[in-house]
Amino acid sequence: SDIQTHLFVIFGASGDLARRKLLPALYRLMQSEEVARRCYVLGTARTDWTDEQFRENAREALRDKGYAEQEVSEWCTRNLYYQCLGEEGNDYEGLRRRIEQLERHRDLPGNRAFYLSLPPSIYRSAIEELGEVGLNASPGWTRLVVEKPFGYDLESARALNDHVHQYFSEDQVYRIDHYLGKETVQNLLAFRFGNAIFESIWSRNHIERVEITVSESLGVGGRGAYYDQSGQVRDMVQNHLTQLLTLTAMEPPTSMSATAIRQEKVKVLNAVQQPDPATDAVFGQYEAGTIDGESVPAYRDEPDIPDESITETFAALRLNVANWRWQGVPFYLRTGKRLSAKLTQIAVRFKGAPVSLFQESGQPCIPQNAGCEMRSNELLITLQPNEGFDLRFEVKAPGGSGKMELETQQLSFSYQDAFGPVPDAYETLLRDVILGDPTLFVRADEVEASWQLYAPLLEAESPVHAYEAGTWGPNEVERLLPQWTSTARTGPSAE
Ligand code: BG6
Repeated sequence: SDIQTHLFVIFGASGDLARRKLLPALYRLMQSEEVARRCYVLGTARTDWTDEQFRENAREALRDKGYAEQEVSEWCTRNLYYQCLGEEGNDYEGLRRRIEQLERHRDLPGNRAFYLSLPPSIYRSAIEELGEVGLNASPGWTRLVVEKPFGYDLESARALNDHVHQYFSEDQVYRIDHYLGKETVQNLLAFRFGNAIFESIWSRNHIERVEITVSESLGVGGRGAYYDQSGQVRDMVQNHLTQLLTLTAMEPPTSMSATAIRQEKVKVLNAVQQPDPATDAVFGQYEAGTIDGESVPAYRDEPDIPDESITETFAALRLNVANWRWQGVPFYLRTGKRLSAKLTQIAVRFKGAPVSLFQESGQPCIPQNAGCEMRSNELLITLQPNEGFDLRFEVKAPGGSGKMELETQQLSFSYQDAFGPVPDAYETLLRDVILGDPTLFVRADEVEASWQLYAPLLEAESPVHAYEAGTWGPNEVERLLPQWTSTARTGPSAE
């Protein structure tokens, strides 16, 4: 097996991410033969916990995910806890001693992953302390996993990269964007580069526009304090939507190696032109409304949100990818909280036929001319929920008194129907950290290129339009694109 015995250290181990995602993912990984007995977890946080309290927290986290107590108890006894900071003498030096002692007792070879699930304000000091006490190197491998957000803008991302590189080399660093761990996001690569029929029409010659939608019906929940400082561009566009854009638009890599893939991603990102805040962007903030029959409050009435906040909870953008493949094909991005449904979808709209032969009048016409109807083919790639594809095309509606009437139908594929439930993104990503495969992590230059792209939006003071919760965003979006193709998927598995 390629999995080596190691210690997985979680910073912020008493927090929400550890409980909801990291511990369950580590547990599921351990269930596979290769990882069983090769992973020890050391949680650390300010919280004053004993090993036993940390284990109890892990048991609860796993119970929430439906695992039985007996099933998980053996794994939990392998979990350990160290209270870092908060108490006299509990510092990084103490952490190092604890790690070394633990490795001696359990005969571990010194392979260590440090997962920083911390508030961004303390990334810097955590990284520095790790370096200062010598935890950036070990007899085995040492890997540093950094959660998003990586930086707040271009300048801070650069500064954070420089800071990280003072203590860790780039090949030790794993910057998380959990969208890259999603099975269906990775499948974009398989779909594009494993299928010659699509690749040959994947360009300005055949595609009219691309729309990327990441909508959520959730609001900001208990994360108001963080979110109000960020907004949707920082929280979603700079990372998740940009990853979807990049994977959709990149050139075929020369191989599936991490370097080859990340090279192409950076290349296409560098070809995207900075959007003009006045003409290429529309922002919104939700008002009270109704979602799934329930009334939900306005953004400004959520906990920890100032009454006069102008933070955007919705963003729609138009981007131009200025390279040979894409020049002139608009990429529309749209994302928001408290929208009508949860949907992550890439809609590719192909160019129409040059002449329309199927008019009421019986006379052929040219689609650009007024009154000439012609629907174009669409490919919907749905990443969640109801993962799958739909290819829409025109067919002859049966009957019709001598006239040809066309109707749109679709070919559909459902991930769930073919393969069953898709694994959680964190499981994939944590396995890759342990294996030392950086393909699905964001490289230093990539994160900077992405912040650079959105710099004009972050600097401008753009209007933020109100929208009712439970809709598809502010009406002003029509200024960018009057009609979006994306719809909630009613494929074979739609609930
Ligand atoms: C996180 C954002 O990165 O992604 C959240 O900070 C957002 O605001 C979440 O809700 C969406 O992730 P998913 O996997 O539910 O699409």
